Amino acid sequence: FVHQLADQNVSPEALLVSPFNLQPEPSLPLPLALYGPGRRNSLGVDLACAAEREPLFAAAERTSVPTIAEAGAATVDAAMRSLQAGFDRWDGRPVAERAAVLRRAADALEARMPEFCGLLVREAHKVMADAVPEVREAVDFLRYYAAQAERQLVPQTLPGPTGESNELHLHGRGVFVCISPWNFPLAIFVGQVAAALVAGNAVAAKPAEQTPAVAQRMVELLHECGVPADALQLLHGPGDTVGAALVRDPRCAGVAFTGSTQVAKLIQRSLADKDGPIVPLIAETGGINAMVVDSTALAEQVADAVVQSAFRSTGQRCSALRLLCVHERIADGLLEMLRGAMQELVVGDPVQWITDVGPVIDAEAHENLARQVRRLDAEARLIARTPVPAGLDGRYIAPAAYELKQIADVRQEIFGPVLHVVRWGSGELATAEAVVERINALGYGLTLGVQTRIDGRAQQIARHARVGNVYVNRNMIGAVVGVQPFGGEGLSGTGPKAGGPHYLLRFCSEQTVTVNT
Ligand code: NAD
Ligand code: ALA
Repeated sequence: FVHQLADQNVSPEALLVSPFNLQPEPSLPLPLALYGPGRRNSLGVDLACAAEREPLFAAAERTSVPTIAEAGAATVDAAMRSLQAGFDRWDGRPVAERAAVLRRAADALEARMPEFCGLLVREAHKVMADAVPEVREAVDFLRYYAAQAERQLVPQTLPGPTGESNELHLHGRGVFVCISPWNFPLAIFVGQVAAALVAGNAVAAKPAEQTPAVAQRMVELLHECGVPADALQLLHGPGDTVGAALVRDPRCAGVAFTGSTQVAKLIQRSLADKDGPIVPLIAETGGINAMVVDSTALAEQVADAVVQSAFRSTGQRCSALRLLCVHERIADGLLEMLRGAMQELVVGDPVQWITDVGPVIDAEAHENLARQVRRLDAEARLIARTPVPAGLDGRYIAPAAYELKQIADVRQEIFGPVLHVVRWGSGELATAEAVVERINALGYGLTLGVQTRIDGRAQQIARHARVGNVYVNRNMIGAVVGVQPFGGEGLSGTGPKAGGPHYLLRFCSEQTVTVNT
């Protein structure tokens, strides 16, 4: 429907529904994701205007992805040596200068949106409707962390009874290692690197091996905009060699990692075992994200939110809906509606604007997903499957929904377009509280959706749910930088939240300077 309106040139403004009456503080930039040219509506669907679409389409058509060499052990060592040497100079620059570099990079990235969308489509197989918001999110991270740094990272005078002058200073910690995943190869990569840099750290960045070109181009842009080479180095290659070597390196003073829970734990162990200082880890990992739907929920709204949350980005979002818990009184009607909505999904070429679901990232992911789908075909009841059109290559997984008997039957995060459904309302799952308890017991804690028209119920569920982001009566993806700080707890991460007010502080060391005056 939204695609149709956009095709008819209905202005994005006419469709924009702000999730709430946003009143940002005047000194913070408005997030582009909501306010930039070509916006998203409250469903997270991109509403880029026609004038913007044509150059984006043309760029995606002609973009070619360069081949990029992996770093060897000598390159890692040389990069760490250079960063160690460059750290003091970069950290010594006034925070306003570091923030200005980020702002220049934001402007440059915005101006190169078609080029980056082309890379995201060609290298990461993003569909166009996901590539545009990802570039905007990256721009938002750059501007938001620049603004936050200028507010938070200045020395604070602490008045008190000691009769001395007391000041709190925030500095970079040293060489920060930033390791990112392929599913947001621009936004997450930039978010980590920008935060670490603006806090005064030198940065060794290790992007996912599946998406090196997006990172390469972005680092070139950051260097062009004024980040010195000895404050930012890019190391390509596999995680278990290049990533592991960076983490183990004695010069590594902190790690920002986004990816799987399993690798976060490996990194945590490696940091604990190495000689030298205690090194902090910021980990943002996966989730088995649920949506709790009670019998009062509006079925049309739920069906739409489920389709957006489970199948956009081909289900390859950490925030994506994996487990729909629906009250038995409305389950049959809702699942019928979901079946209909899934038949409308367009599975196809990511370059086409009309495409909702593209291919998965690579052959290995396809093989894993296909194995998990075969298991579900044998063990669960298929509710619906959107067919993959004939002629598409082998890396497509058909969006599918399966009914399970129990919440505990969802054993792992399936990182693709596969949804589990469980009914509640009787037996062990008689109440919403019991449902939330079982969801908490899965151990993850990233996103949770709630659909209800009962006053106070959503707040009650939010209080008991051990998750980082709760979305009520809407979809549960696409957190907006600065206004919906994003990140989880438990198996889903250590915090702090990306795009939130406490993020930068974790990249800093604190020093109190007391002078006897
Ligand atoms: P992954 O853990 O396999 O890889 C992530 C990064 O870690 C890659 O750069 C990889 O090369 C590197 N790596 C792998 N092994 C390593 C090691 N031993 N030492 C150091 N680095 C190593 O994850 P992925 O498949 O790229 O991404 C998908 C996962 O990421 C999913 O679980 C998803 O939920 C999660 N994710 C979480 C968030 C979030 O914000 N919470 C965002 C996006 C993705
Ligand atoms: N930050 C991304 C989202 O909210 C992963 O969907």
